[in-house]
Amino acid sequence: MKLEKLKKKVAFEALKFVPFKQIIGIGTGSTISYFIKYLSKIKDKIIGVVSSSKKTTKILKKYGIKIFKLNEVNYLPVYIDSADEINKNMEMIKGGGAALMREKIIASASKKFICIIDKTKKVNILGKFPLPVEVLPMSYKYVKNELKKIGGNVIRRKNIITDNNNYILDINDFFILNPKNIEKKINNIPGVLSVGIFSKRKPDVLLIGKNSRIETIFKKF
Ligand code: 5RP
Repeated sequence: MKLEKLKKKVAFEALKFVPFKQIIGIGTGSTISYFIKYLSKIKDKIIGVVSSSKKTTKILKKYGIKIFKLNEVNYLPVYIDSADEINKNMEMIKGGGAALMREKIIASASKKFICIIDKTKKVNILGKFPLPVEVLPMSYKYVKNELKKIGGNVIRRKNIITDNNNYILDINDFFILNPKNIEKKINNIPGVLSVGIFSKRKPDVLLIGKNSRIETIFKKF
């Protein structure tokens, strides 16, 4: 089955996790764009959405789905988003769409995180996908040098200013054997605003679009 078909299939399945008359959080990316299209068909079932990016906000507006700011909301029962890579411990790399900072905040603020991926996102070791780091522009050279000491080949993403007016540094050729440790280490560098490793805020439910079926995995407690 073609990749886009798998993304659509898993995006449709995620509708099952949309709670009645609530506000939900929504991520960013192509899989999520499909999800929003399906969500628009049942938009009267929800109160609205907290969006993780300008890109997602634009699509939500196109479909007439009500948008709330995170600060306006007291309770977010569910956050639905995709990922760039995920390992067997449900640790992830996110931020291919440069929306990692807001995605991590909204995922952390939500009770349940439903992650929807196609089968190509499952990996044994995180790091084939370049690891994004959002940095304050005035600090990017310093942060770049500090990141190099941790490992990998650090490249500033060209022509990208994030929704928060920051830069993205991508760490290439960096195989992440201990995601928890690396997430903490990178977070501790002054100038780093967010790192695309999600090892603390992992999904509660993972839906994987496969050719024959959707696999559902629940987080082990
Ligand atoms: C954006 C993300 C996305 O979840 C990730 O890039 C997956 O995108 P896609 O659904 O297009 O494969 O982290 O910042």
